[in-house]
Formats: sequence, structure tokens, C-alpha cells
Amino acid sequence: MSFYITTAISYVNGAPHLGHAYEAIATDVIARHMRQRGEDVFFLTGTDEHGEPVADAARAQGVEPLELADINAARFKALMPQLEVSNDFFIRTTDEQHELKVQEVLQKVHDNGYTYKGLYEGWYCPRCADFKVENEILDGNLCPIHEIPLTREQEENWFFRLSAFQEALEQLFDEHPDFVMPARPFNEARSFIGQGLQDVSLSRARLKWGITVPWDPDHVFYVWFDALLNYYTALSYARPGEDLTDRYWPASYHVIGKDILKFHTIFWPAILMAAGIALPHHVYVHGFLLGADGRKMSKSLGNVLEPFEVMDAYGTDALRFYLLRDVAFGGDGAVGIDAVRKRYEAELANEYGNLASRTIAMLIRYRDGVVPTAETDRALQADFDGLADEVATLLNRAELSQALELIWQRVRRLNRYVEERAPWQLARDPANAATLDETLASLADGVRALSVLLHPYMPASTEQLLDALGARSTDWSGAEFAEQGNGATVAALEPLFPKRA
Ligand code: MSP
Repeated sequence: MSFYITTAISYVNGAPHLGHAYEAIATDVIARHMRQRGEDVFFLTGTDEHGEPVADAARAQGVEPLELADINAARFKALMPQLEVSNDFFIRTTDEQHELKVQEVLQKVHDNGYTYKGLYEGWYCPRCADFKVENEILDGNLCPIHEIPLTREQEENWFFRLSAFQEALEQLFDEHPDFVMPARPFNEARSFIGQGLQDVSLSRARLKWGITVPWDPDHVFYVWFDALLNYYTALSYARPGEDLTDRYWPASYHVIGKDILKFHTIFWPAILMAAGIALPHHVYVHGFLLGADGRKMSKSLGNVLEPFEVMDAYGTDALRFYLLRDVAFGGDGAVGIDAVRKRYEAELANEYGNLASRTIAMLIRYRDGVVPTAETDRALQADFDGLADEVATLLNRAELSQALELIWQRVRRLNRYVEERAPWQLARDPANAATLDETLASLADGVRALSVLLHPYMPASTEQLLDALGARSTDWSGAEFAEQGNGATVAALEPLFPKRA
């Protein structure tokens, strides 16, 4: 089955920060998990390069918008492999093929009668590149997101008849309660629709930095429509000489932050309906990373956690693990380097890392580095029953932290098993050989199965460990606890999560 998953595409008016890394990592966990399950996965990320914020930032730096876009898009693109993010393509909305496809799709919206020319006047946030509706504006005419003064703007625009999709959107939400997940953003979007949809502007007359409206070349498309369409356009040119649209569209999952809910759950399905294109299956909305003090991260508050600071100190896998473990995915959460250190030491080094080292060391010491082919411990196995299915079910709903918690309970279970069985005592008396075989086979296979389950979260260290266990495969079929030890030859392993200064 094809599985198409996307992140939001990032603005290129600045460099990437931890919020972007978080979304890419979370999406990567789902993509990798689906690949394990044998799905035909396509994973897209990229950059959103047109519109006012980028034009303004470029102007402030005295460069052309494309120069600024080139610099920052390169940073975002380079960040992905550094985060071990396995995207299949990186789209830039300044790609010529994207621009042509946007024109083609929106021309269809126009031809289908869903556009008209009108005068738009409203309160506008230049940072959001968005007009604000009255009930979301903060006291003192401030942007609810950026808390900067809004300006009163008027211009002749092309409008998109969003109001024509009132009933269709109500029906979409009523018939597909999992179109938006989790429940809270679903309800928020549903109630926004319930208040009655107003038409929205589709073009800008004043701005030049955008994609030209083909039927009225004095206008460029409003950046949000250009940006949203990336999810669809990318498939038409991501593989040179091949169009992947039929293979992967409609998207299975759009992963986004809560600040861009309205665009993805209201504008996006409406514009697709207007163009006669099938709708994505799910939009998953995650929360915000906050500074360690619980306030929104900002340079001026000095509470910013830099992804590179964490990766340099603890490694990429630790960053990935930390973000999905410490912040319940879907909610907001504070992050800071002290909390990273605590999780690293308490869970990665002392629990998983130590379990791995002990298991391998005991196999080498007591069984010449060969996993006994003995039957594994039935009672222990029972504590793993159904785990792989539960994890898969949770990950179908992007419940990344809950799935990780279930896996981690079993990491702890195996550590307790080591203490209960005390193999070092069993090894003293040859009469215990069969029990020791059972114990070591169980530990080896438990660690192996857990590493398969943890692979999407921590690809590099789980691969290293699976290699050392002589069981390379990360396929989902290996996520179950085996009935018997596999007879593999294990190799010594350097600590996966060494003590850090
Ligand atoms: N360009 C738009 C998205 C267009 S998608 C068709 C945009 N860009 S962004 O760079 O501002 O944000 C990109 C993604 O990162 C969004 O999903 C946003 O919610 C997420 N994050 C940005 N800061 C964040 C945190 N501090 N925490 C978690 N994610 C946040 O919006």
C-alpha cells in the first residue's frame, strides 16, 4: 500500500530551529515505521519561499528574495540528514515545476467558477502574511501569534469562494472524525467552520515575490495557496521522468503545528475540492516546544535550545528520543539541555544502553558469543504479547509518545529480568546450564525485538545494536518476541550512550 506523509514546509526568512527539527523528526518516525511495515512510503519536506515574510526579510538584509531563499533552503535541506531524517524529496516552492503546477491547479479552480475579483480590506499581519478575522485579533490590534501591531490594508484581490464549501466541509468533518487529529484541533477547526466561512483572498496585487496568476498577470497568488499545493505538486516532478501522483496521491498524513491548523484543515480541503482533486486522509497537529521556563522559545528570553547543541553533546538519536519522550506528542512542552541530560543518563545510558551492553557481554562471557537456540521464557514473553500490534495501532494515529512509553516499559521489564535471573549466579553451577540458555536467549531476543520497535526513533544506535546482535533486519516481522533463540553470533559493542562530561 502507498503511504504518503509530509511535514509543513518551512519559511526561509530565517535559519532552522528546534521547532522545525521536531516536526521533521516526528514525521520521520512515522515514515520509518511504515517502511518497516513494508508500506510503499513517500516522505516529503521542504521550504516555503514566496510571500511577504521572505520578501521583507530579504529587503531588511539588502539582498534579493531568491538569494535569501537559496541560503536558508540549503540550511534546511542539509539539516535533514544531520537529524537522520529520511525524506524522499525536498521541495522548494521556487522550483519551476512547482510554479507551473500551481498555475495549472489554480487555473482549474478559476475555470470551475470558484474565484472572483473584489476589494479586500482588513487587519493584516505582515509576519503571518495573513489577514486576521476580528475575533482572533488581540487587544490593541495585535497579531495573536506574533503580538505585533496589525496594519489596516486594502487592495483588489482575486477571491476564492471558500463559503461555497461550507456544507462540504461540515460533511467532511462529520463523516471523518479522524480527518484532523487529535480531538482538540479537530474540534477547533470544526467550530471555526460552524461559525460560517467567509471567502478568502487568493491573490496579492502589490507583492511581486510569488507565482503569477495566469489569468491576471498583475497578481501573484497568496503565498498560502502556493505553499499548500506543494504537497500535490512535488509528486509530479520529484522523480525525473516519472509522475508519482497516481501512485501516492491522496496524501495519507500531513503533519503540522497547531498555528497553521486553519490553512490545512479548511482552506486546503476546500481548494482541492474546487480543483476536483481527492482530499488527504489525515492532518495530524502537534503542539509547540517551549523554552525550559515554559515560555515560548525566543532568542531575547535566552531560553532557546539549539538542535546542534544537543546533537554535539549527546548525539542525534538522543535528540530524537528526548523530543518524543519528554514532550507528549500532540501537546506543548518545555525543553532544555538539563532535561536532555537527565533522560540521556537515566534512560538511554542506564536503561537501554546498559541492557544492551550487559546482554552482549554475558553472551560473550557465558556462551562464547553465540545466542543459545533454547526456547525463550514463556512468562517473560507474555509481557510482550500484543506489543507490536499496540505500537502499530498507536503509530497509525501518530501517538508517538504513547508508543514509545509502551516500548520503554518493556526495556525496564528486561532489566528487571536480568536482576531476577542473575545470570552471573546461574553461570556458577553447570547444573543451571539450561536455565542460563533460556535466560540469555530471552534477553538476546527481547533486546533484538525492542530494537526493531525503537528503530524509527533511534535509527543509528538501534542499527548498531542489531548488527552487534547478529540480527540486522529491522523489518516489522522481527518486532515480535521469538519463541526460540536465533543462534546468531554476537560481537562486542562499544557503549551506545557513553557517559558525557
Ligand atoms: N511556511 C508555513 C507552512 C506552510 S505548509 C504548506 C510555516 N512555516 S514555519 O517555518 O513557520 O513553520 C513550519 C512548521 O514548524 C509548522 O508546522 C510550525 O508549527 C512548526 N513549528 C515552528 N515553531 C515551532 C515550535 N516552537 N514548536 C513546534 N513546532 C513549531 O508555518
